[in-house]
Amino acid sequence: MVFYPVLEDQVKINKLLSDLKVSASIEKRLQTEKFLGKKDQVFSFSTDNKSVIFYGTGQKQKMTPENWRQAAGFLGQHILKYHLSSVALELSSWTKGSSDLERLGHCLAEALTLSLYRFDKYKTQQEENNILENIFVNLESSKKNNFKKFWDQGLSFAQGTILARDLVNEPAGNMTPTFLAQQALDIAKNNPQVKVKILEKEQVEKLGMHAFLGIDRGSVEPLKFIHLVYSPKIKAKDKIALVGKGITFDSGGLNIKVGDGMADMKIDMGGAATVLGVFSTFNDVKPKVEIHGVIAACENMPSGNAIRPGDVVANMQGKTIEIGNTDAEGRVTLADSLAYAQQQGVSTIVDLATLTGACIVALGSDYAALYSNQESLAKDLLKSANLSGERIWQMPLAEEYRELNKSSIADIRNIPSARGGGSITAALFLEEFIEDSIAWAHLDIAGPAYAEKPLNHYTPLGGVGFGVRTLLEWLLAK
Ligand code: BES
Ligand code: ZN
Ligand code: ZN
Repeated sequence: MVFYPVLEDQVKINKLLSDLKVSASIEKRLQTEKFLGKKDQVFSFSTDNKSVIFYGTGQKQKMTPENWRQAAGFLGQHILKYHLSSVALELSSWTKGSSDLERLGHCLAEALTLSLYRFDKYKTQQEENNILENIFVNLESSKKNNFKKFWDQGLSFAQGTILARDLVNEPAGNMTPTFLAQQALDIAKNNPQVKVKILEKEQVEKLGMHAFLGIDRGSVEPLKFIHLVYSPKIKAKDKIALVGKGITFDSGGLNIKVGDGMADMKIDMGGAATVLGVFSTFNDVKPKVEIHGVIAACENMPSGNAIRPGDVVANMQGKTIEIGNTDAEGRVTLADSLAYAQQQGVSTIVDLATLTGACIVALGSDYAALYSNQESLAKDLLKSANLSGERIWQMPLAEEYRELNKSSIADIRNIPSARGGGSITAALFLEEFIEDSIAWAHLDIAGPAYAEKPLNHYTPLGGVGFGVRTLLEWLLAK
């Protein structure tokens, strides 16, 4: 099968048809079907034993890398539908002139790979497996090597994202803290530049992580505190930390979730999944900075031993937290993982957390909320998100709301005293544990970590692997 992206340009479409020597009947059909190369228009036909697809991509000047991804995602869906084993990409309409071939290669490989992803390991009757074996790209030979290099980079970004999707999709009965820790161990085993430390409960107790320990108390699954370190081969230019919320199941605890509020809560380790997805790519993607990955992994369960509303716990910095609601558990565990990350001597921390339902109310399910105490860090992350096609929107660390997290008996309380702005007050809670000297950004990914329906041509329903591609862009720009 040959895939032709077609720009919205009558003259060039006519030229293409004459180059391909299509029959008059096909030309006629193209006219009756009014194929003009408008965005997402499709026209398919066969000539001398090969089948051809024209995929409209709109006007050249309006094309963005995201359009490349959507086109590749469309192709992927076509491949799945018709079980194609080999495809050729005729990219001349895109590669002529000044287009950024490197990013084109990256985006096509990335989105094609992501679009072929399905989580079907638990289906006993699997749909016919993906049998794509060959992809041919027609390019001038002088451009081939570089294109291939960035194609491979796109593949790595996709593979990291797919690991994160797999972890989010895995049911919580299997996707335990132990399972998450094993993933980290596997990553380190496959890459000599990554070291991993798994702290067990006794060590966590020694470090005084009573906030994390408090949330874990109700669960029979042993907790794991995961610390990964990637070191570049040359001297590191900077030291940063990626911290992920790692609640492998959020029942709400004693403030148990009601209705269908608990149904999807296997996704509550989405932040941790993203951190592991990023680390899994460092065999191929090699940032020039030292990177620490930090995950406090446990379940949030009710039991006779569970933490109670009204209890007070102290994190490893000694800051006391009043538990107003056991379902606001993520910020409590993060109070310890953020404190631990700061002890590693990093200059910058980015945390990712499926933190609040309020974030979905504010921004809908496609956008992550971004908060930062440093404007330049926020700008860099927004720029990276723009390149990766992931949706991120900056929100304020509103000083006016800080007092809503006040507790009458402890240093801070884990639920605010007002209903509105719940994603903001959660971010302000986290900021209380960040030293002024640290550049910190928080991504509330409660919405985009999981797609309840397919999000676009390359993101099927289920775990999205949100943040992996944005963080990799950001790390490579460092
Ligand atoms: N894990 C949830 C947040 C969440 C909700 C993520 C929906 C993804 C989809 C979090 O632990 C939680 O339960 N937050 C509470 C906080 C409240 C008790 C202050 C919430 O958002 O309702
Ligand atoms: Zn919760
Ligand atoms: Zn949660």
